[in-house]
Amino acid sequence: MAKEKSAIFIIFGGSGDLAHRKLYPSLFRLYKSGFLKDHFAVIGTARRPWSDDYFRETVVTSLKDYFDDSEEVMTEFAKHFFYQSHDVNDSEHYIALKNLASKLDDQFEAGHNRVYYMAIAPRFFGTVAEHINSEGLKASGYNRLVIEKPFGRDLDSACELNGNISKAFPENDIYRIDHYLGKEMIQDIPNIRKNNPKLEQALNNKYVSNIQITLAESLGVEDRGGYYETAGVLRDMVQNHIMQIIGAVASDEPESEDADVIHKNKTELFSSLKELSPEEVDQAFVRGQYDTDNLGDLKAYRQEDNVAEDSNIETFVAGKIEFDTDRWRNVPFYVRSGKRMPKKSSRIDIVLNDQVKELGIRPNSVVTLLIERENGHSILINGVNYKEAGQDFIKFPEEAEFDKAREAYESLIIDILSGNRVHFTLWDELRSTWKYIDTIRQRWDSQTPEFPNYLSGSMGPDASEMLLERDGNSWVWDD
Ligand SMILES: NC(=O)c1ccc[n+]([C@@H]2O[C@H](COP(=O)([O-])OP(=O)(O)OC[C@H]3O[C@@H](n4cnc5c(N)ncnc54)[C@H](OP(=O)(O)O)[C@@H]3O)[C@@H](O)[C@H]2O)c1
Repeated sequence: MAKEKSAIFIIFGGSGDLAHRKLYPSLFRLYKSGFLKDHFAVIGTARRPWSDDYFRETVVTSLKDYFDDSEEVMTEFAKHFFYQSHDVNDSEHYIALKNLASKLDDQFEAGHNRVYYMAIAPRFFGTVAEHINSEGLKASGYNRLVIEKPFGRDLDSACELNGNISKAFPENDIYRIDHYLGKEMIQDIPNIRKNNPKLEQALNNKYVSNIQITLAESLGVEDRGGYYETAGVLRDMVQNHIMQIIGAVASDEPESEDADVIHKNKTELFSSLKELSPEEVDQAFVRGQYDTDNLGDLKAYRQEDNVAEDSNIETFVAGKIEFDTDRWRNVPFYVRSGKRMPKKSSRIDIVLNDQVKELGIRPNSVVTLLIERENGHSILINGVNYKEAGQDFIKFPEEAEFDKAREAYESLIIDILSGNRVHFTLWDELRSTWKYIDTIRQRWDSQTPEFPNYLSGSMGPDASEMLLERDGNSWVWDD
């Protein structure tokens, strides 16, 4: 049985895309499952002068894209929604927000808890956090600040952003969302490790040949060319999602389930990232940008809307990451992410060596954790569903339980309401990962790439294959 939570949500950017496509549907799921019931309200804020009624209509309209519940249920849910027109730079507006929040707190008996959700551009995060503090919006229960990536675009800007928000909120009240940490498989990795002692025993440089992480997309940048021009796949996928996935697979097993202990182990892993010299970047990382496909039907990246004709932004990256720890020294973590690859696939391939026979595992076995299930499967051993693989070193809850998996945002919002910080990114982790990524970015920015260098629908530039071949390895996933 879901335990009902109480809070007032203040959503900055309440009229935007993220709010309508992700947050409101997730809140609705929580409403249907009973986590949210009577004691909550949502204040949407943005500059446009909407009324409460109009705002509720937009919420119901968005829900209809995802749910087939009756309009009556959706309308009942939307009665918890209120709109306050607000410009983030105007101090007066925060007073109006504060008054509305405390009125709704009384009306819905919301326990004086506040969730401040930044569904706005990152350049506003600091301003909003400072005003929440200076205009006295914080209530007597908990006050939790939720921010979305990107957390800066390099170490300096991340430090500046963090400096601004941490003046107003202690680290313990800051929930930095990386939605990959809300995905069921990523959340299950600690359980898989704990419940499969042979696998856990094998997770080190004695038994692992290499670990591969692939986050491949078949689509191009679609209508997000403007954003992508400021980011590129290194910043958009590697600094955050890929690093956090490595954290889940390779951090030491925590002695307890306490969030601080789990984060301590992850922080230690990231602080041992083996630094690269500029010349080593050329050896260890490959970048690419998509061209049209082999029929010439699809747009090349440089032809996309809001993209410069001579853009040097990368849409593909492959790299070899290493850690300087006793456990992982000399084990390459090959990572890869790209747009316009043959199909969407998000997977972790753990390639074991021949020594694993000591543990009763067939030599050179590959354990694949599928982050999004493919053909109903979640874990493969040598490409076959683990249940049919004829090796029993992996046991996992029944697939049926998987079917009930929560959508990532839904699961993360429950964590925020419960004060569970396990699945969020901490500042110390960000600092180490940005430092590592900055070295690559700076090297790339000092050289002009020969773009475009891979066809849409291909596995990326040839250099991606060569990166592994040089070490006598190859990508497990090759479509
Ligand atoms: N969309 C996604 O799937 C997604 C995924 C991951 C992360 N994010 C991050 O989430 C954030 C929001 O993205 P989005 O795609 O939802 O953007 P969006 O659709 O452009 O929404 C931005 C929101 O901010 C409001 N806003 C803009 N200027 C304002 C101001 N001066 N004062 C008050 N409100 C203002 C806008 O409303 P008005 O114009 O009415 O003010 C709108 O509600 C960004 O940080 C983005 O990087 C988004």
